[in-house]
Amino acid sequence: MKIRLLSTLLTLGLTATAFASKAKPVIGLSLDTLKEERWQRDRDTFIAEAQKLGATVIVQSANSDDTRQVRDVESLISRQVDVLVIVPHNGEAMTRAVKSANEAKIPVIAYDRLIMNCAIDYYLTFDNVKVGETQASYVAARLPTGRPARIVRIYGAPTDNNAKLFKQGQDNILLPLIKAGKIEVVHEDWALDWKPENAKKIMNAAVTKAGRAIDAVVVSNDGTAGGAIQALQEDGLAGKVLVTGQDADLAACQRILRGTQAMTVYKPLKNLASLAARIAVDVAKGNRPTTTATSDNGTKKVPAIFENVISVEKANLLSTVVADGFHQAGDLK
Ligand code: BGC
Repeated sequence: MKIRLLSTLLTLGLTATAFASKAKPVIGLSLDTLKEERWQRDRDTFIAEAQKLGATVIVQSANSDDTRQVRDVESLISRQVDVLVIVPHNGEAMTRAVKSANEAKIPVIAYDRLIMNCAIDYYLTFDNVKVGETQASYVAARLPTGRPARIVRIYGAPTDNNAKLFKQGQDNILLPLIKAGKIEVVHEDWALDWKPENAKKIMNAAVTKAGRAIDAVVVSNDGTAGGAIQALQEDGLAGKVLVTGQDADLAACQRILRGTQAMTVYKPLKNLASLAARIAVDVAKGNRPTTTATSDNGTKKVPAIFENVISVEKANLLSTVVADGFHQAGDLK
């Protein structure tokens, strides 16, 4: 009797939660890391927009640890969130967690980075191939004349699908120039977990191998650009070698003003994070928001949206990141 009563209550309770959640959805946000400045902004903007729409957000951050992130997602599933938004540390390792979400009938949105080989519902990101093209085009437009340019290439984390897309975009621009003998790649490597210290080691190895005659370092994000620039500083080369980046981190914008970093790629995070919150709430309410693209993750063509990106250098810092309120002019000094 007692057991029957309990199970009736549980059923009622569960139905009530599921029903109430339509008006006040609960969103589980699982982040790989908060290491780079950008992810804190993504999180804060996402929460603010979701709250405006009446939703609650439960945030987990996995500190670049796959086991921990799978556990984070499992715990959000057991708390019966209405929708999951995931920035995977490793797009392959998260497949397992998405399968659990599928079994629990909880929709999944991949945020910024794709999750491979599983049935996710949406993929919301920036045009990552264009990020790579923007970085490489900046360098290609400033090649020395009369001799091949000597460049170093520092890619991101090999576990991050985006890192491959950035490289693909860079390849689109650089490979024809390499084939034409206009560019020589003197050293290249992947910076594990996007760690600045790993990028520094790669840059140190590049100088040891290739000497000081380096024209440019195509680096995939600002954190790792910071590491590469530290290595260049040790050799008195900072400011003499073009270095690219991505994210418009405050430290990177300061380096651009000082001249030790040449450019960054600004991604208006406000747009992506608030779009993702709106879509998450919509999906939680059982709607099918419209998208503008698809991305093949090996299992399906995932409905996707690619936000645009902006090339930033000293000359347009004020008219881009500052005008957009991303940084205050006073903080850039
Ligand atoms: C993101 C970049 C970020 C990098 C390291 C990439 O997936 O797109 O914005 O700098 O991860 O967190």
